[in-house]
Amino acid sequence: MSELAKSLRPEVLASDGPQDYALVDSGNGRRLERFGAKLLDRPEEQAMWAPSLPESAWAKADAVFTGDVEEEGAGRWKQRQEEPDWTCRHGALRYRCRLTSFRHVGVFPEQEAQWRFVSDKLGSAHGAKLLNLFGYTGIASLVAAEAGAEVAHVDASKKAIAWARENQALSGLEEKPIRWLCEDAGKFAAREVRRGNAYDMILLDPPKYGRGPKNETWRLFEDLPEMLKLCAACLKPGGTLVLTAYAIRASYLALHQLCADIVGGPVTSGEMVLVGEGGAKSLPTSLYCRAEKPK
Ligand SMILES: C[S@@+](CC[C@H](N)C(=O)[O-])C[C@H]1O[C@@H](n2cnc3c(N)ncnc32)[C@H](O)[C@@H]1O
Repeated sequence: MSELAKSLRPEVLASDGPQDYALVDSGNGRRLERFGAKLLDRPEEQAMWAPSLPESAWAKADAVFTGDVEEEGAGRWKQRQEEPDWTCRHGALRYRCRLTSFRHVGVFPEQEAQWRFVSDKLGSAHGAKLLNLFGYTGIASLVAAEAGAEVAHVDASKKAIAWARENQALSGLEEKPIRWLCEDAGKFAAREVRRGNAYDMILLDPPKYGRGPKNETWRLFEDLPEMLKLCAACLKPGGTLVLTAYAIRASYLALHQLCADIVGGPVTSGEMVLVGEGGAKSLPTSLYCRAEKPK
């Protein structure tokens, strides 16, 4: 194999998910997952294979998402017992799960692999600064704060920011230096560059399409290059950018080459995978890229 081919080989980032999570099974276009006390059955187009477990195991689901199978399509949950929300654990952290009309439940379990990276990397640098763009319910921000970092968490959704604050209180981390910012990610990054603010680590987990609080549009393929330039400009030398992207028609190599171009390097990239419990098949979830800004 040529050196080039070796250097372009993707790395699989495998995770069992958060502490009380499990990928129980997948197949026939669906995924069966345990989030704390609840067993959920929701669509997963990539799970084209046959499930490992019998129908009777799937029938035990506490809630089943029915409706549009498209990644961001709306639908509804059929629940065995109406229960608005419940609490899950990851180490000392506590976070709330909720059944939303877009099948999301408040956590992307595969991100556990990135939380580990954040904790390892920032844990040894007290007082490090982390910027979490498109931060959603903030578990990665809480992991960073727990590791001693000063955090700026940006998301366009007031609901997501309120949920993140709830998770902060549930985890008893109210004293930690976290700024919860309901803003457009692009506008915030541009302002940080103008202000000359710099971070030790930047997390970027954008959707394919999104809207800012003032209806600013986000379109990944069009806007990612400029966003990366802004992030590179507010990353300290030696700092790390962690990019994840899901539900897009692209290869890890596209993210790799874009990050190598703009941030510099070293760069690692590949796919994030959720490992099935007890031998159940694993589930590919998203692409990722980690790029370090040269010192
Ligand atoms: C995939 S989720 C991020 C998940 C998060 N990284 C996690 O691990 O929990 C994408 C988030 O981007 C937010 N978003 C969409 N468009 C945005 C924009 N223009 N500026 C800031 N946030 C935006 C959405 O509200 C959503 O919470």
